[in-house]
Amino acid sequence: MPYYLTTPIYYVNDRPHIGHCYTTVLADVMARYQRLIRGQPMDGRGGVSGGGDGGVFFLTGTDEHADKVVTSAAEHGATPQEWADRNAEEFKKAFALLGVSNDDFIRTTEARHKEKVSAYIARLMESGDIYRGEYTGWYDEGQEEYVTETTAREHDFKSPVNRKPLVKRTEPCYFFRLSRYQAQLRELIENGDRFSVLPEARRSEVLGRLKPPAVLNDVPVSRPVTSDPATQWGIRIPGDPEHRVYVWIDALFNYLSVVDTEQRRRFWPPSVNLIGKDILWFHAVIWPALLTALGEELPRMVFGHGWWVSEGQKMSKSMGNFIDLEKLKAYIAWSPNKEGIPVGLDALRWFMCTQGPLSGADADFSHAKFVEVYNADLANGIGNCASRVGNMIDKYFGGQVPEHGTGRGEPGQDDASWMTYTPEGHATFDFAALCAGALHGVERALAQFRLDEALLQGVSLIGQVDLFINHTRPFSMAKEMDKAQAEGHAARAKELREELGQILYLCAEAVRVASLIVAPAMPGKMAALWRAWGCEPAPGAPLAELAVFGGKHGLRPGQRVGKGEILFMRADGKVAGPG
Ligand code: MSP
Repeated sequence: MPYYLTTPIYYVNDRPHIGHCYTTVLADVMARYQRLIRGQPMDGRGGVSGGGDGGVFFLTGTDEHADKVVTSAAEHGATPQEWADRNAEEFKKAFALLGVSNDDFIRTTEARHKEKVSAYIARLMESGDIYRGEYTGWYDEGQEEYVTETTAREHDFKSPVNRKPLVKRTEPCYFFRLSRYQAQLRELIENGDRFSVLPEARRSEVLGRLKPPAVLNDVPVSRPVTSDPATQWGIRIPGDPEHRVYVWIDALFNYLSVVDTEQRRRFWPPSVNLIGKDILWFHAVIWPALLTALGEELPRMVFGHGWWVSEGQKMSKSMGNFIDLEKLKAYIAWSPNKEGIPVGLDALRWFMCTQGPLSGADADFSHAKFVEVYNADLANGIGNCASRVGNMIDKYFGGQVPEHGTGRGEPGQDDASWMTYTPEGHATFDFAALCAGALHGVERALAQFRLDEALLQGVSLIGQVDLFINHTRPFSMAKEMDKAQAEGHAARAKELREELGQILYLCAEAVRVASLIVAPAMPGKMAALWRAWGCEPAPGAPLAELAVFGGKHGLRPGQRVGKGEILFMRADGKVAGPG
């Protein structure tokens, strides 16, 4: 099955910040997992087709026809198009910097999109799903805009800006017959087979607004075009140049317009439309209704993540606590140690993906948490484990993967498992089972878009390797082996060497499997480990094959496992944070 994944398209009135970066990095991690699953190069350079019809297509882009783009362009002395060009470039640069591997980048001002939107609107007008009606509302003549009924009431039916009375105004407008789809949408979402809304909190939120007594009204999908240049930015309603398509309707169609071509049609429908919770209504209700009206299949899933807050506070420019791109760059370059080794991009991606607001609840970007997670999962976790294992293989086996398969022949001991004895009792470390279990965990988590849970399977596996090392104490075993050798107990020394070899093989092979699981979030660091250990994923081999413990892609006796670079240098709590 092909996999088609989208992010929201971002408004170009301003520059990218953590919200945009978070959604896009999450999508990138999912795209990389999906390519890895299909045996395609993770970074997408293999193209979108790989694996029969099972390619991956990852789309992001910019939403450019918003009124606020016109306002902000004017404030900067630029035309809307110039301003959109400049900021779209900023988004592209930001995503490249974050290692995002999107297959296309759509800008809604591109002809390929505008032409398709006009055609979709024309089709919906033909089917009667879009009709010309009249919009009546409270109009602020000074601001030349409508205010909502609630705002009007709150301000005593006076302009919130100049206090002049609001006027009730009626004008022609195009509507989408959303009311027609209420029952159908509710059933679809309740059932969840063809169209699921996740996480659960989002699903109940939408259902609450779809269940009677709630009533869905038809929604305006046009805005008037007047002599005011500010109203001239946008796609025209086909056959009526006095009206332009409301920016949200224009924007939603990007997911379809980009793949509505002969070569890309096979990617439809989206496997996931990934969004933030603030834009749930448009994606979980208006969007599927528009698609149903067009006779198109619905996205399999809409996933709405929560929001980042900063040091426990809502982010705002006035508070000065906004996590913008500069701040993210400062984290990437931050060297929290005397050696001056930066934490690097992968550490930031890891933090965002495992600690972010994916489950629905908001998450805090706090410096203390960043340091804690960096040290626990990366420096003391996978980084330390890989380097311990690599160093021991280097020291005791000349940097070559030891011979293995020399289990002690007791129950629970075979080529992939080992029974340990500690004063607390014994434990069996069955690494084949642990790795298979971790991989199942990854699959289960990915099916629900829980990337955090998928990645943490890698951390648990590393935890098992660390525990195994603590139980078996290979460094003491090596000393004992040298002593036996020196004292002329050759048979004992040989036995110990075999055991040590088996233990280190189990560790190294489990680290290899863990590295595959965390690689979608940390492609750069894991590629460095694979280079050092000579275990880069074989081109074309799917994850299910690559991740088999001791399988045909496993580490081979005699294979060189270099010490490699230090992947993550520990953060010294005393070093000041970035920026
Ligand atoms: N242009 C529309 C989307 C159209 S999609 C057809 C839009 N753009 S946006 O630039 O304002 O925001 C895009 C995304 O950024 C939203 O999904 C929003 O949830 C996300 N974020 C903005 N601030 C955020 C945080 N503080 N935290 C996490 N994500 C947040 O809406």
